[in-house]
Amino acid sequence: MDRFEISTEDDVVRARTAARRLAENLAFSLIDKTRIATAVSELARNTLVHGGGGRMVIGEAANGTTTGIRCTFTDAGPGIGDIDQAMTDGFTTNSSLGHGLPGAKRLMDEFKVESNVGQGTCVEVIKWK
Ligand SMILES: Nc1ncnc2c1ncn2[C@@H]1O[C@H](COP(=O)(O)OP(=O)(O)OP(=O)(O)O)[C@@H](O)[C@H]1O
Ligand SMILES: [Mg+2]
Repeated sequence: MDRFEISTEDDVVRARTAARRLAENLAFSLIDKTRIATAVSELARNTLVHGGGGRMVIGEAANGTTTGIRCTFTDAGPGIGDIDQAMTDGFTTNSSLGHGLPGAKRLMDEFKVESNVGQGTCVEVIKWK
């Protein structure tokens, strides 16, 4: 498992590159590599922009029959008050597109958000081969 601090835009790019490299090493298809890199980029950017910075832990996942990539994003920011609302396409508190979270969910196979207002947010995603 590798850990990446996310406190600048460059860190977001590094997180994306690391995800793409691991996907490459695990021989994911080209389309899946792009899905993984896109989701990681969106989630890392949320950690930076909304969470005020944090970290990504990335590594191999296994479920007995197949391998995958697991990425966990953690911050100690303001948290998400209404997760259902945050997961709605087009919802944003930032006059952005509001497609990051729902987009990442569609791109990956497993998606879990845990958040407590005033404490922070943890998003975990997995892509299986
Ligand atoms: N790590 C986080 N900490 C606090 N709030 C978050 C976090 N991630 C997402 N949110 C909240 O969920 C909303 C939706 O996130 P989402 O990524 O879907 O859209 P966005 O970041 O606003 O826009 P886009 O990703 O399209 O540029 C955000 O506007 C923000 O209010
Ligand atoms: Mg976003």
